[in-house]
Amino acid sequence: MYRYIGNKTKLASEIVDKINELVKPNSKIADIMAGTGSISYELKNRGFQLFSSDVMTYSKFHLIVNLTMNEYPKFEKLDSEINFKSKIPLNRYLECLNFLNNLEGIEGYFFREFSPEGIPENKSPSRKYFSSENSKKIDAIRKKIEFWNQCNFLSEKELALLKHTFILAVNRVANISGTYGYFLSKLSKNALNKIILEPVILNNSSNNINHVVNQGYAEEISKNLTVDLCYIDPPYIKRQYAANYHILETLARGDEPIAEGKSGLRPWRDQYSNFCSKLKIRDSLKTIIENINTKIILISYSEDGLLTIDELEAFLNLYGTVKINIIKYNRFKSNKSTLAKELNEYLIELHKN
Ligand SMILES: C[S@@+](CC[C@H](N)C(=O)[O-])C[C@H]1O[C@@H](n2cnc3c(N)ncnc32)[C@H](O)[C@@H]1O
Repeated sequence: MYRYIGNKTKLASEIVDKINELVKPNSKIADIMAGTGSISYELKNRGFQLFSSDVMTYSKFHLIVNLTMNEYPKFEKLDSEINFKSKIPLNRYLECLNFLNNLEGIEGYFFREFSPEGIPENKSPSRKYFSSENSKKIDAIRKKIEFWNQCNFLSEKELALLKHTFILAVNRVANISGTYGYFLSKLSKNALNKIILEPVILNNSSNNINHVVNQGYAEEISKNLTVDLCYIDPPYIKRQYAANYHILETLARGDEPIAEGKSGLRPWRDQYSNFCSKLKIRDSLKTIIENINTKIILISYSEDGLLTIDELEAFLNLYGTVKINIIKYNRFKSNKSTLAKELNEYLIELHKN
């Protein structure tokens, strides 16, 4: 879907094949660190019932769209705002995007904090996450969506579809090298393109079972889950998602937080992950394993992770039988890198006692 640390799109078929092997058709599967939703999406297509969640707000919107929306909503309450020509839901979605794409840009929070012409509130040098033109457009679109939301003109699904579409569009023009941890010093070719909201194609798989989407810490959510298998794809390096994707979180929440320091990060500690700290991973895993009502836990982990596979295996052995599957994976490698090209990605089965 988009560049996201640890995104499993390229490994999805191996992971989903393994899940297929371990449980019966139509089983209940939890995906409690679902990120962009790539694994949940594939599992939905294979007929499973999903209980998907993540601590980040943007993830919730991606999950609502990818798991629970098989048809376009009607945007019925926007009749007072948009002069719709069509009654067909897809066309109304397109008209809505057209309306947003044609808004006049405004000099708002994104322009001030994240554009070359802006003067950040904390007087840091201007930041270059987006071109000035795109920042103004982003401000106009943000403001309109938030206004519609505050007026209750949007259903939960309509809001999710607009935010999901918006975030994908913003990612296409961001002046970054992968994450929003910092911006590039010169505007890249992508960043110079004009931001355009493009329609997303919904996953109209015949699997209409009620999938459940939530937002929250896996340590908490696991308390209320009874499933046949729980898939866990934790962060494996020190980089916190809340810090590295702060701009997506701000778009998802629709707020205007203080932009701190030179890089303009939102205060992000309320979404801190224990999985980015070698000292805290085991405590959190223990909580999840003990909380969740399931027989099988399947964990993705990387050879580059904070814990070695031996450390992880020794720990998981305390809770049941462990089996380790290895998927060979081509690592992204810069020319100067001395790291090996091939990387082991682990898929660890824990069959609980
Ligand atoms: C490796 S990524 C998951 C990638 C996902 N499978 C995909 O393909 O996009 C890890 C995710 O875990 C989330 N996360 C980190 N700690 C968490 C926690 N304690 N509870 C819930 N989610 C957490 C992050 O926000 C991030 O989206």
